[in-house]
Amino acid sequence: MLDAYADRWALVTGASSGIGAEFARQLAARGMHLAITARREDRLEQLARELHTRHGAELEILPCDLSVAGASKELTSELARRGRQIELLVNNAGFAIVGNVEETSPEEVARMIQLNIGTVADLTCRVLPEMLERRHGAVINVSSLSAFQPVAWMGAYAASKSWALHFSEALWAEVRDRGVTVLAVCPGVTQTEFFQAAGIPGWLDRHTAKSPQKVVKRALRAMEKRRQYVVPGWKDYLMTIAVRLTTRRTAVNESARFFRPKKAENNESSKAEPSESESEPSDDSPVDRRASA
Ligand SMILES: NC(=O)c1ccc[n+]([C@@H]2O[C@H](COP(=O)([O-])OP(=O)(O)OC[C@H]3O[C@@H](n4cnc5c(N)ncnc54)[C@H](OP(=O)(O)O)[C@@H]3O)[C@@H](O)[C@H]2O)c1
Repeated sequence: MLDAYADRWALVTGASSGIGAEFARQLAARGMHLAITARREDRLEQLARELHTRHGAELEILPCDLSVAGASKELTSELARRGRQIELLVNNAGFAIVGNVEETSPEEVARMIQLNIGTVADLTCRVLPEMLERRHGAVINVSSLSAFQPVAWMGAYAASKSWALHFSEALWAEVRDRGVTVLAVCPGVTQTEFFQAAGIPGWLDRHTAKSPQKVVKRALRAMEKRRQYVVPGWKDYLMTIAVRLTTRRTAVNESARFFRPKKAENNESSKAEPSESESEPSDDSPVDRRASA
């Protein structure tokens, strides 16, 4: 278990913005040194200057595209060459594809799966064995509220986050008696560049969102308590219970209504009116119409 932060090294992926940058900030405030990675080097350098000035943290900046197979192997080799022993791995880098399947590029889906699944598996399997040998350390995988159900219009993304949740929970059970802990963090809508990157820039204006500060605070608290997963925010946690109580059909139909792209909405409205069973959900529908992400 990560029993102390000070003067130990954390590797944070996707640290150039949003939740990843906030992980770097809160870990530096606890006295950790940081290896930070993402593609936008200028953002990483700016963050490094901020954290060094404010907290005296040491930083390694490792810009790379983690959606390329083999990139994570190079990353860990470079860290080993620099003599950095990773005490905490935060697998945070990720993105979503939202939209009609017929307009989705298969190459883009492959890149997303490589980043959201391939790189998370690869980095974890490279870093975790050393932690087990030392009998201390922790891995945090940033999953999503969408991990708890199939989500229409973003099926591959939600499934990649289900993978991250299940992978993390399984590892948590495997390693928990060996001094190491693994945590899946499952945030709902959070104020970051995520929706911009997913091609739905106005999303945050129309939905309530949590701050990355709150998400990271809850995540670190859950890691300290050695929990296997955390859903920051009680309303989002209730969503996961509602999904368990309803049928899988209702859950996925609700997601289809919620995430339906504008274009598909227009096409549908020019067709026949929906049948009663397919019409708007009733007020007592067990599945809330807020977004998962
Ligand atoms: N925001 C939400 O509502 C929400 C909800 C649930 C889960 N999440 C998850 O939270 C994690 C962080 O996302 P965020 O909300 O903080 O969004 P964000 O602000 O868009 O951050 C995404 C981070 O991932 C990095 N990244 C993207 N593609 C990459 C690539 N090919 N190689 C290396 N790094 C890459 C980005 O850096 P560069 O662009 O510089 O490479 C950026 O630092 C993601 O895994 C996301 O799925 C977000």
